Amino acid sequence: MESTFAANTPDGRTTSEGPLAAVQALRRQLLQMVPVNQLTLMVDSTVLTSEDFQHQIASLLVTDCQLRAQRPAPDYLRRFLKWYLDQVERTGTQALDETLLDLYLQFLVHKDPGTTPPATTCYKTYILPKDTVGSTELAVTVQEDQTLVAHGTTGLRTWEAGLRLTEYVIWKAERLIRGKPVLELGSGTGLVGIWCGLLGATSVTLSDYHPVVLDRLLTNVALNPPSDGSAPATHVVTLDWLEWNDAKAETYRGCTVLGADLVYDPSIIPALVQVLQSLVRVECTIVIASTLRNPQTFAKFQEELAQGELEAHVMTDIDEAPRYFYHDQTSQLAEFRFLCIKQVMTCMDQ
Ligand SMILES: C[S@@+](CC[C@H](N)C(=O)[O-])C[C@H]1O[C@@H](n2cnc3c(N)ncnc32)[C@H](O)[C@@H]1O
Repeated sequence: MESTFAANTPDGRTTSEGPLAAVQALRRQLLQMVPVNQLTLMVDSTVLTSEDFQHQIASLLVTDCQLRAQRPAPDYLRRFLKWYLDQVERTGTQALDETLLDLYLQFLVHKDPGTTPPATTCYKTYILPKDTVGSTELAVTVQEDQTLVAHGTTGLRTWEAGLRLTEYVIWKAERLIRGKPVLELGSGTGLVGIWCGLLGATSVTLSDYHPVVLDRLLTNVALNPPSDGSAPATHVVTLDWLEWNDAKAETYRGCTVLGADLVYDPSIIPALVQVLQSLVRVECTIVIASTLRNPQTFAKFQEELAQGELEAHVMTDIDEAPRYFYHDQTSQLAEFRFLCIKQVMTCMDQ
């Protein structure tokens, strides 16, 4: 049988570029901790069981995952190894790579080696392969919780709207980010804003109100220092929409203001809209990304914006933005609404 290798890209395309591409695609999925039942490793059984391929998977796990300071959760790697070994066994072969077997046994024995964060948190690394936006690979690592709500906040994991907004700003970096100051509202893990730092923003302010989220933002900024050794242009501030006063807006004059998944609690929408109103007055360009979960809540947001004499332009070009990262397949049907908010029509020529 002829051997084939294929790499699955985040946008679902399959490219047949050889074994390296397949292993590299798997590396990106593992470091982003794509759920094991959603992993794609499209290689036929001859490849899967070949000594060379198994060896490459073993060195990927050791070099890129196990020896990495901010590696995926050990439990996740164990589940991946079990999945992989099951696939190999299912082909009927006995030719299991010894290093892979050893690794699996190690994961079984040492369930939580001391260097890893507590089991509820993990590190996720979002990688842009080289030649996507530059000649080198770019990556952001953030510490995230594995549950939807922890410590009474939703801000300890990256939400789909945040991931999609990150992809949008990467795609539109030249217009929205490069050479501009950026303010992120309700930053959560800070993924969007930290990427803006890599994309050439002059300064990035990550903001939130929840103390545990603010701590996590500091951790995540520290995990991603500038590669040239310069002082980080990304900092963290407490910004509670409920305690906003218009005088604060001047600090953010001319910023690109970003916010993802902020519209879910009807009771705080008026406060959020007041913040947006005063940011618009200091000539900010505002992009708010939402997952359309509850149409009534989103309609309330739009009504409040209209009452505050803000124009909210639904951005249709989000549908064309490439998918650079892997998305949760269970939310594939999620509908996003990106609003560009301003007082007059010509916010962005799309
Ligand atoms: C669903 S999470 C979204 C986090 C992140 N933007 C993302 O997309 O992954 C909502 C975020 O809004 C923040 N938030 C909620 N109420 C807030 C308020 N009154 N002031 C500032 N931030 C708030 C939460 O702490 C949380 O980080």
